[in-house]
Amino acid sequence: MRNHIYIHFPFCLSKCHYCDFNSYPTDRDAIPFEAYTQALLNELAYRCRLFEEGGLHGFGKQTPIDSIYIGGGTPSLMRPRDVDKLLAAIRKIFTCDTMTEVTIEANPETLNAHTIDGFVRSGINRFSIGIQSLNNKTLKQFRRIHSAEQALAVLELLNRYDGVKTSADLIFGFPGQGVDEWVGELKRVMGLGINHLSCYALSCDRGSSYYEKVKRGELPPPDPDLVGHMLEATYDVAETAGIGAYEISNFAREGFECRHNLGYWRYEPYMGLGAGACGQYYCKEGSSDFLVREVNRYSPDDYMRAVLKGQADADGIFTPEKISRDQAVFEYLMMGLRLREGIAVSDFRSRFGDLLEGYQGEIDHCVHDGLLETDNLAIRPTRKGFIFNNRLVLRMMK
Ligand SMILES: C[S@@+](CC[C@H](N)C(=O)[O-])C[C@H]1O[C@@H](n2cnc3c(N)ncnc32)[C@H](O)[C@@H]1O
Ligand code: SF4
Repeated sequence: MRNHIYIHFPFCLSKCHYCDFNSYPTDRDAIPFEAYTQALLNELAYRCRLFEEGGLHGFGKQTPIDSIYIGGGTPSLMRPRDVDKLLAAIRKIFTCDTMTEVTIEANPETLNAHTIDGFVRSGINRFSIGIQSLNNKTLKQFRRIHSAEQALAVLELLNRYDGVKTSADLIFGFPGQGVDEWVGELKRVMGLGINHLSCYALSCDRGSSYYEKVKRGELPPPDPDLVGHMLEATYDVAETAGIGAYEISNFAREGFECRHNLGYWRYEPYMGLGAGACGQYYCKEGSSDFLVREVNRYSPDDYMRAVLKGQADADGIFTPEKISRDQAVFEYLMMGLRLREGIAVSDFRSRFGDLLEGYQGEIDHCVHDGLLETDNLAIRPTRKGFIFNNRLVLRMMK
């Protein structure tokens, strides 16, 4: 298993209408850059002390780190010098090399040649750009504060950096969008020579302003049938362009898959730093292994107050949760069934023994329904299994 690090930056310049992430609209001048970076550094130091003393958690000194992901919020608002400090601190403790994937999520209005230079110099080698739509009217309705032209210009700018990978996020299936409009947009983005793309069906989540509008009857919720057609069309366009789906919503040319997200879907360990960040650790107690998940306090103020005061313990910033074996099996299957590569029988066995044999009836049923394909090495979702993924997971869990 490979180890990963996630860092959360919870501030944004405005709140998008569909967003329920742990993000807070804040004037640029009011973002506590200095204090937040210091809190992240304190948390990193605290966690390393804790792991060293307990000998737990699998993130010892010099542990090789496969990927680092700075997500948000809008982490591209950060000052490159703060990113530099953070990455330098991580490199001092763990083993990172040129192969370590280091991603920053970026909103188009925050990037220019100067900031990109700074981030690349600090060690960022992958940018995930939130384009969302190429329709300026839609971007306005989403309360995005960039235009389609700005997003395309940023992609073009990033193309000039050797050794830097770029990904684009798009959203489809919002009220009023038809299959043809979506396919046109998708083809345009794929035509830019992009190597990685994430295409998300719009979801209507509690906590977003879209959710409130749907509740008041002002906007319709996403139409699942239309979304199914759009997803089908997305797979067709992507395959033709040579950017296959390696996960339900993620597309890449070979070798450009996002290693960080693969880590989540493969159920690998990751350290979470920052407000609302989640970490997942494999621990040992005597001869038995167990999994612990730790979710940090959501509010940036509470998080900073606790960590800056030196209270970075279970009472201060995070709540540890021991994951039961049944829950771990469920989550592992749910994650693995999102991936084109599916679940390797040998990996399942090394984690959970011969438990997979107990699922043979469900596997046969799903193969019969065209949701799964299987050989002696792995069970893999088919395209139908991607489109009807909820159905596939429910069937497997019966
Ligand atoms: C952590 S979020 C935001 C990243 C970055 N701040 C931005 O907005 O571009 C990552 C991605 O999730 C997707 N996303 C967020 N809310 C969504 C929703 N309600 N439905 C579908 N996709 C969503 C967007 O494509 C977004 O780029
Ligand atoms: S979608 Fe991105 S920019 Fe918009 S509010 Fe959420 S995290 Fe911030």
